[in-house]
Amino acid sequence: MSSQTKPRILFRRQEIAAAVKKLAAEISRDYQGKSPLLLGILKGSFVFMADLIRLLDFPVEVEFVRLSSYGRGTESSGKIKVVQGLRSQVRSRDVLVVEDIVDTGLTVAFLLDYLQKKKPASLKLCVLTDKPSRRQVPVTIDYLGFTVPDKFLVGYGLDCDEKFRNLPDICVLD
Ligand code: IMP
Ligand code: MG
Repeated sequence: MSSQTKPRILFRRQEIAAAVKKLAAEISRDYQGKSPLLLGILKGSFVFMADLIRLLDFPVEVEFVRLSSYGRGTESSGKIKVVQGLRSQVRSRDVLVVEDIVDTGLTVAFLLDYLQKKKPASLKLCVLTDKPSRRQVPVTIDYLGFTVPDKFLVGYGLDCDEKFRNLPDICVLD
């Protein structure tokens, strides 16, 4: 797959905004009176995170962790490692992991397992897009924006070889 291909729109910015608003309402309802740590997985989640937190009207902290599962291109290496680790305390915190996409599930399964060992008060997962057809390990998604087909997506933070993260719509690379 080449990054020369012209991306085709799958979800327009207005649909994304509506989905993020719905997720923010669910999260606001569930975390009333709490002050969760929102933990984004870099780099893909940064656009979603930025929009999501601005719709939350209660105290939140934001942290990012950088993992690697994909090398370059579109194929998963299957090996996950922490490239840039957590600086915040997780123990006894309400932790909400924020991710752009769950594909094989290996990345979030690894991170949730890693975080669970640090004994958070609660641990939940908020994902913008889910590609269930490619799942290799089971993942429970607590807050989900869109279920997507088995296509390679770019835009709204999602990349192909580091390109297209800036597209305001979620697009398919055919
Ligand atoms: P997983 O470990 O296979 O679930 O892959 C998750 C990671 O792979 C995501 O955080 C993305 O960075 C990347 N990824 C998976 N599918 C896509 C896609 O369609 N477009 C862009 N990145 C993707
Ligand atoms: Mg990612």
